[in-house]
Amino acid sequence: MALLGNLTASPTAAIIRKMRQAQRADGPASVLAIGTANPANCVRQDEYADYYFRVTQKQHLTKLKSKLNRICDRSAIKKRYFHHTEELLQHHPEFIDRTLPSLDARMDIAATAVPDLAAAAAGKAIAEWGRPAADITHLVVSTYSGAHMPGVDLRLASLLGLDPSVRRTMLYLNGCSSGSAALRVAKDIAENNRGARVLVACAELTLILFRAPDEAHVDTIIMQALFGDGAAAVIVGAEPDASAERPIFEMVAASQSVIPESTHGAVGRLREDGLVFNPSFEMPALIRENIEQCMADAVGPLGLSGGWNDLFWAVHPGGRAILDSVEAGLRLEPKKLTASRHVLSEYGNMSGPTVIFVLDEIRRRREHVVGRHGLGVLLGLGPGVTVETMVLRAACGS
Ligand SMILES: CC(C)(COP(=O)(O)OP(=O)(O)OC[C@H]1O[C@@H](n2cnc3c(N)ncnc32)[C@H](O)[C@@H]1OP(=O)(O)O)[C@@H](O)C(=O)NCCC(=O)NCCS
Repeated sequence: MALLGNLTASPTAAIIRKMRQAQRADGPASVLAIGTANPANCVRQDEYADYYFRVTQKQHLTKLKSKLNRICDRSAIKKRYFHHTEELLQHHPEFIDRTLPSLDARMDIAATAVPDLAAAAAGKAIAEWGRPAADITHLVVSTYSGAHMPGVDLRLASLLGLDPSVRRTMLYLNGCSSGSAALRVAKDIAENNRGARVLVACAELTLILFRAPDEAHVDTIIMQALFGDGAAAVIVGAEPDASAERPIFEMVAASQSVIPESTHGAVGRLREDGLVFNPSFEMPALIRENIEQCMADAVGPLGLSGGWNDLFWAVHPGGRAILDSVEAGLRLEPKKLTASRHVLSEYGNMSGPTVIFVLDEIRRRREHVVGRHGLGVLLGLGPGVTVETMVLRAACGS
């Protein structure tokens, strides 16, 4: 204790305190640019059941096909994009036959396809930002679609020509809340490292969870019906350079919580036949019953509790029923979730990147969506059940 007391009073302590102050940024982090990308192969949702039972050669499972048709019909999704094509599936019988191990082949494809898709989104974000890629100081990458060493982050850094000194962080298998988690990490980095410019990149390929329908595993078709491929990237930084950077959203505060007794709500396991993910029937009800308390805990300290319709909402569209639950639980006017419902309709649930697509949609619809004081909430929902909340303020003139 005495030693610590001496240290805190010593000239060294003063130097360290000064150094720490100098290391930190003065203002909050902001979103400085956003980019998104999808693979070329697009499948319409009203044709999906035909497509899926054809490519998996399971046309004889007529009851299951009718069920998938009902789910697609109720999904509020119009179309989705996939890296995998009919041709690719024909060359890989192991992606369709559940008895064959397929993890190696899925990982081999993901090793290049995931960073390529992430680079397409990141390239757009960097172009919008307007500064050279070499000015990026930190990289945060999230995916459930690969597990390599070195990982997606290093390949992405090389594709984009980032400086070898860029400080990389990988988030693997964080599920649908990974986009919000990556933004939270980027905010912390930007605010604690003066001058930092953080590139966030989230990319997902559903090839990791593609498998044939099976009467013994009926819930497989839920994943096949809702999930799509996509990538999204964001540049995050504090103290924007007014001559070169145009902030879009200020990242006011971020927090994470878990809905009590909900670990069964969304469960995933990486197996020899790829990623098996089961969202439980209870997921929509768990969210409806708990979302208001989670939001009150997250935004209460900012004095924003209760006035939910005064805020704009970028909610992860995990499924139509998830959005219905958030809307009901917070008594939101239907127009509040139009950006989330639009993204669900155009792309399906792309897991982590989806909430960034929603953010991009909100900035496009800004004048119709953003209220008087410009405040809103980015809401990620994923396994746990995890609730990731970020309070945002739309920047003036963005
Ligand atoms: C899937 C979804 C679009 C279906 O819409 P819906 O309004 O619930 O429609 P229905 O109640 O008619 O359900 C359609 C069928 O899907 C089945 N179903 C719904 N949720 C299911 C689940 N989690 N697991 C397995 N089957 C499910 C129903 O049993 C029903 O089957 P049936 O037609 O044979 O009776 C909707 O339930 C949804 O969005 N769920 C949320 C998905 C989710 O948890 N996503 C989060 C991933 S992080």
